[in-house]
Amino acid sequence: MTETEYEFVVKRKNDKGEVSYSNYLIPKDKISTVLEGLLYIRDNLDKTLSVRYSCRMEICGSCGMEINGKPKTACSTIAAKLGKDRITVEPLKHYDVIKDLVVDMDPFFTKYRDGLPFIIREDEGDYTSELPQTPDQFKEYEKYSMCIKCGICLAACPIAGSDPDYIGPAALAGVLRYNLDNRDQGKKYRLEIVDGEEGTSRCHFAGECTEACPKGVDPSFAIQLLRAQGTRYELAKIFRR
Ligand code: SF4
Ligand code: FES
Repeated sequence: MTETEYEFVVKRKNDKGEVSYSNYLIPKDKISTVLEGLLYIRDNLDKTLSVRYSCRMEICGSCGMEINGKPKTACSTIAAKLGKDRITVEPLKHYDVIKDLVVDMDPFFTKYRDGLPFIIREDEGDYTSELPQTPDQFKEYEKYSMCIKCGICLAACPIAGSDPDYIGPAALAGVLRYNLDNRDQGKKYRLEIVDGEEGTSRCHFAGECTEACPKGVDPSFAIQLLRAQGTRYELAKIFRR
C-alpha cells in the first residue's frame, strides 16, 4: 500500500460456506465513500465480490456492514474520515451471511412486521375526510419515523447477539412510532407483544443501538418510553379487573 492508496480487507463467504479475507488496493482519488471503494473493487479488481446497495444516499438502508469493526451504512461512510488507510469491511453481526457482505435480513423484517407497524383503527375505517394531525402531534413521533430499516442497531445490540429471539431496537422503535401517532388506536395490541419476555424487558440500555443509528432515531430512548407505556398499560389492566 502506498500513501495514495487504501487497502480494503474484505471478509468473504462463498457458496460452500468457506470464509476468507481478500485484500484490495484502491487509489484514493477514485473513491470517497466505503461503498464507492467496494464498487471500485467489483468493477475493476474482482467481479465476484457481492455487496448490496441501492440509493447510495442513506435512504434505502440496504448497505449496512461492519466497517473497521463498527456497523455503518457504507454509502455514507467517508473513507478519509475513518482515519486509517487500511479499512476492514465485514458483514453485519447477528445476521446470517448469504454471500460476502450480503446478509439475510428476513428475520429482521419479520420482527419489524410482528410489531404491527401501521395505523390500526377500531372504527370501520369509513372516512369522508383524512384523519387530522397537528404539527405538534406529528412531532411526537417524527424522530422514530426516520428509521430506514437498515438493521444496523440490531448488529450493534449486545442482547441481540446472545438472544436471537429478542425483538430488537428497530422493531421496538417502530412500535413506539405508531403508539405515539394520534390517529392510531392499536397501542394495546402492540403492548401485548412488546411486554413479553423477548420485548422491552430484555433491553439493558447499553445504548449501542442509538450510537450506531445513522438516522438519529434513538432506539434506546424509544425502548425506555415503550417500557413506561407498558407499565402504565399493565397497571390499567389490574385496576380494570
Ligand atoms: S433505528 Fe436506526 S439503526 Fe435501527 S434500523 Fe432504524 S435507522 Fe437503522
Ligand atoms: S445504499 Fe441506500 S442506505 Fe446506503
